[in-house]
Amino acid sequence: MSKLIIAIDGPVGSGKSTVARRVADLLGYVYLDSGAMYRGVAWKALRDHVPLDSEGSVAALAGATRIDLLSGDGGFRVLVDGVDVTKQIRSAAVAQAASKLAVIAGVRTVLVAEQRRAAGSGGVVMEGRDIGTVVLPDADLKIFLDASVEVRAERRRLEHAQKGEVLEFSEVLEEVRQRDRRDRERAVSPLVRAEDAVLVDNTAMSAEETARLIVLLAHEREGAEARQA
Ligand code: DC
Repeated sequence: MSKLIIAIDGPVGSGKSTVARRVADLLGYVYLDSGAMYRGVAWKALRDHVPLDSEGSVAALAGATRIDLLSGDGGFRVLVDGVDVTKQIRSAAVAQAASKLAVIAGVRTVLVAEQRRAAGSGGVVMEGRDIGTVVLPDADLKIFLDASVEVRAERRRLEHAQKGEVLEFSEVLEEVRQRDRRDRERAVSPLVRAEDAVLVDNTAMSAEETARLIVLLAHEREGAEARQA
């Protein structure tokens, strides 16, 4: 049976990463985190003191950066110009910077091309904001994950706490609202549900339940494609 291309989009804290990783695991597919590419460029911009409001400089930096996403026994790893930055790109500072440079058209052009190359011919689960709408509009299965803003902020707070970053809930809620605004209102590739995406609201679902629901949808899609072939 041919392997599918699965696109999972959704706002911060919707559980995309955990869910997409688990779906890939259950199906034996490759997991690709497109946000890690934006974070990788942001990490380099902060390291090299490239001003984030200088669109030309940041786009040039993206074009001159090699980003490798590796999935394997050691888990998912991100290399920027050969340097393993898997941990560093998860800081709050890098998240903020990534959200700022994701609005720059020149950055998106470079990274979208990289993401299409990475998706290849199938057997992948790619997560992001514009995967079903822009990066892989012909994906076999598109999921738009969502949850209430309060639940998403609490998930984010716990994630930070696990890394030793203790933040007030109100502070995280405000950060999530700001990032939602930037993701949804930006002129280039805003976060919107693709018309043919299945909306999955997991406010009251665990990541495992959400992943298993998506795997059921994937099996259904595989069956439909096999019948058409
Ligand atoms: O999913 P994430 O938090 O790791 O993403 C980091 C930033 O990159 C986030 O602000 C949104 C942006 N992003 C994007 O604009 N398009 C994508 N396909 C993935 C992420």
